[in-house]
Amino acid sequence: MEEPVVVAEGLHKHFGRTHALRGLDLRVPAGTVCGVLGPNGAGKTTAVRILATLSRPDAGHARIAGYDVVREADQVRARIGLAGQYAAVDEKLTGRGNLRMFGRLYHLPRREAHRRADELLERFGLMEAADRQVSGYSGGMRRRLDLITSLILRPPVLFLDEPTTGLDPRSRGEIWDNIRELVADGTTVLLTTQYLDEADRLADDIAVIDHGRVVASGTPDELKATIGDRLDVVLADSSMVREASTVMHRLAGTDPTMTGAEALSVPLTRGGVRLADVVRELDRAGVAAADVSLRRPTLDEVFLRLTDRDADPGSGRVSGLEKEVVR
Ligand SMILES: Nc1ncnc2c1ncn2[C@@H]1O[C@H](COP(=O)(O)OP(=O)(O)O)[C@@H](O)[C@H]1O
Ligand SMILES: [Mg+2]
Repeated sequence: MEEPVVVAEGLHKHFGRTHALRGLDLRVPAGTVCGVLGPNGAGKTTAVRILATLSRPDAGHARIAGYDVVREADQVRARIGLAGQYAAVDEKLTGRGNLRMFGRLYHLPRREAHRRADELLERFGLMEAADRQVSGYSGGMRRRLDLITSLILRPPVLFLDEPTTGLDPRSRGEIWDNIRELVADGTTVLLTTQYLDEADRLADDIAVIDHGRVVASGTPDELKATIGDRLDVVLADSSMVREASTVMHRLAGTDPTMTGAEALSVPLTRGGVRLADVVRELDRAGVAAADVSLRRPTLDEVFLRLTDRDADPGSGRVSGLEKEVVR
């Protein structure tokens, strides 16, 4: 089988006493989007910098298109584009001026640099702003300009480090459209994000990372399946919270969380709980429920539980089983 375009194996990186990466593994097949999802400080930027040859791992290996990021850094650089967490464009130049300058820095002949600048401005919807100084651009426009700057040499592999952090919803949507365009062209994208909806919308596969290692990976659906369905119960009144809680604990094997004055929710870590059982058990305990439902967890719930930022303060820690890698 063909090796994935991006492969990271057992990456470690220390900064003084901080162990930023602790054995990080990643594999991104050609033409797919891998969403590297993790909270602040999880190690996302450190991983991207190593993959992009800007930093060396203390241990472990990484290859891009089969080339080692340390020993064959030039080969790697010829195949990647990087848009960092902070836009790296020149404030004093216009959008077009920036693209032309970067084209020249990449040793394109002048005419080719100009042609490529216009092509990218047109394609990614920045032509109207092309001749305005970047200092007057919105945050979203800067990020998009930064993104297209990384495309000048048509890299087959693109690293996007938190491309939409801090942007308003509309600008985020525009960046997402731009990314989809690139993927349609066959570009392999590794995208870091703190936003679950972003990973859910764009990524074929997600690697959830925390404290420098992958704590779960799979498609968005596979990840949702790892923590099982949830049982939500809304009571007719709040006087029966205790009884309802006892019934839910018996069915789920863990304590439910209050999600409102009369609402309780619990993850179902073992399968086989049916709605009819819940209704019957509540009835038997004399609990009047206004609503009972079983549902898939949201990706938010998955993320919060996997990264130990306690989504269910009442339900204790994530079990070992749930933290296992999906595949
Ligand atoms: N150059 C550096 N010097 C010291 N510590 C660093 C440096 N870069 C990152 N770190 C630390 O490494 C950890 C991971 O950081 P980072 O990769 O930037 O996380 P993320 O991008 O997921 O927010 C954090 O604890 C951060 O403070
Ligand atoms: Mg970062």
